[in-house]
Amino acid sequence: MPLNTRLIAARTLVRILDGGQSLTSVLENTSSALENSQDKAFVQAVCYGVCRYYYRLQFLLSQLLDKPIKDAEIYALALVGLYQLAFMRVKAHAAVSETVEATHKKSWAKNLINALLRRYLREKENLDAQADLNPSAFYSHPKWLISKIEADWGSETAARIFHANNQFPPMILRVNALQNSREMYLEKLAASEIEAEALDFCHSAIRLLKPVPVFSLPDFESGTASVQDTAAQFAAGLLDLKVGQRVLDLCAAPAGKTAHILESQSNIECVAVDIDATRMLRVETNLQRLNLSAKLIVGDATQPEKWWDGKLFDRILVDAPCSALGVIRRHPDIKMLRRPEDLVALPALQAEILKAAWTMLADDGLLVYATCSILKAENENQISQFLAENSNAEEIPFAENPAKHGWQILTGHNDCDGFYYARLHKTNLSA
Ligand SMILES: C[S@@+](CC[C@H](N)C(=O)[O-])C[C@H]1O[C@@H](n2cnc3c(N)ncnc32)[C@H](O)[C@@H]1O
Repeated sequence: MPLNTRLIAARTLVRILDGGQSLTSVLENTSSALENSQDKAFVQAVCYGVCRYYYRLQFLLSQLLDKPIKDAEIYALALVGLYQLAFMRVKAHAAVSETVEATHKKSWAKNLINALLRRYLREKENLDAQADLNPSAFYSHPKWLISKIEADWGSETAARIFHANNQFPPMILRVNALQNSREMYLEKLAASEIEAEALDFCHSAIRLLKPVPVFSLPDFESGTASVQDTAAQFAAGLLDLKVGQRVLDLCAAPAGKTAHILESQSNIECVAVDIDATRMLRVETNLQRLNLSAKLIVGDATQPEKWWDGKLFDRILVDAPCSALGVIRRHPDIKMLRRPEDLVALPALQAEILKAAWTMLADDGLLVYATCSILKAENENQISQFLAENSNAEEIPFAENPAKHGWQILTGHNDCDGFYYARLHKTNLSA
């Protein structure tokens, strides 16, 4: 019997909604079980779409049901059905009949799915209008997260962030400066009929006009280019790297920024540390593809005494574990997986990592603190507290931007992911 892609999508979603797994990891498994590339693309589009519009679809479903659906798979299937009718360019009758078919052995659910999808089609205008009046459904974000972001940035800016979070992200490349110039790589892309443009505000970045599979990028295997959002491509430049320096990349996996550091200045001693041994394996693979090398250490950044050789570093990058609320457009499941309590635990961990990193930085050294978050508690407030507690830390300020300390890129600005950077210079108090 042919696999029903709606059922596969629903089962994938159950593992996120009930199992708390991430969309990327679940889809990796699902996709390997699907042979047909069209099926793969369909399942992926539906799963990303349902996550993106989960809070809107959940609201619509609540309007269509007298009592909640208890069966997790059928609940997810209802979301899959509604997503197709509300957002996809598939024929409505095919969407309904295929979704009803996907109830599979649960024949009790056939009528239920059929009835609710048909009712949505009949009452679409009215139901959509009702959804537009409910902020969580309108922005498709959980209520608590709306309040949190509005409290930090005000309702107008927050609305722009919510909108940006629901857009399809661009595919951005980072050109490996050790292998070729950006102009040369643009020529290779053109020769492969991949439409692309250079981004003038970031010298290593190229935006593809349409995403393509990485393996169709010219010379990808030999490391000529990597996929990395523009916002993340500022880290290496901000470190102001010089020949012969000792550089520590403290939360390094999977090495997007380690690689860029080495591509920007190959004549350095680079140490890359991460607590997660599995993610560290990806660091190895990624550096190998790019023909780069660093000293790799699996270690806890809060406990350098367990792995550090005591030699101070001239430059440290702390790409801290964070809420990742700046990359929702790339990982829309973050809206479902993140919990309010994470936003208490993470700033405490970040402060601990910063404190430990500071002890490993040489006098006159530079530490760059980065997160892919847009919350003040993880960013400017974190740095404000650090500056208050460390008299030998001085901030190297950025030109005007929304943050009091550091540089806050809000999601969607220049079509970038949401990101934060602060530069801290260690002054020699005894000099
Ligand atoms: C934002 S990701 C780093 C991304 C990476 N810098 C890049 O550009 O590819 C944060 C990393 O921090 C690591 N991490 C979390 N807690 C840590 C700790 N206590 N010590 C070291 N690494 C930690 C996570 O395993 C994760 O890989």
